[in-house]
Amino acid sequence: EQDPRIQGIAASIRVVPDFPKKGIMFQDITTLLLDPKAFKNTVDLFVERYSGKNISVVAGIEARGFIFGPPIALAIGAKFVPLRKPRKLPGEVISEKYVLEYGTDCLEMHVGAIQPCDRALVVDDLVATGGTLRAAMNLLERAGAEVVECACVIELPELKGRERLNGKPLYVLMESR
Ligand code: PRP
Repeated sequence: EQDPRIQGIAASIRVVPDFPKKGIMFQDITTLLLDPKAFKNTVDLFVERYSGKNISVVAGIEARGFIFGPPIALAIGAKFVPLRKPRKLPGEVISEKYVLEYGTDCLEMHVGAIQPCDRALVVDDLVATGGTLRAAMNLLERAGAEVVECACVIELPELKGRERLNGKPLYVLMESR
């Protein structure tokens, strides 16, 4: 049984064909952010799932994990750690490269943001191939944290990103194609 709030959230997401290139149906969450009810319901659904689970850190992935991650972190009493694209963080970092359709990209995390006892939730807006979530999990695990789960608003199930997460659970509010 799907939570009744999910339908309104799904309806608030704009799908833009052929952006940023031909054949891609871009899932635009900026229209979700324009709908305060849908935005609040999105955050609430994650907060309800993760409250009382002893999660000590929410790690948000640049850029849209920086929108959904912090309100979840504040509500469950966890710290927020940004996982950033290269050369953005000023302190000492650890890095994880990941493969894109063309070329590679990289995520970085500040050394010292994570303690070995941390229990982490990884947050992003969308999982496609899963490469980004996998890199995020690797950073956290290298720093000694336990990754409890990854959470996204949208999954593109055809790309089977879920299968690239080393058996770690992935929770999403909805699927899209
Ligand atoms: C999108 C999305 C995820 C990632 C998912 O980010 O927000 O972070 O792609 O793709 P994957 O599952 O195939 O790894 P994007 O690359 O558009 O970067 P941006 O948020 O910095 O614009």
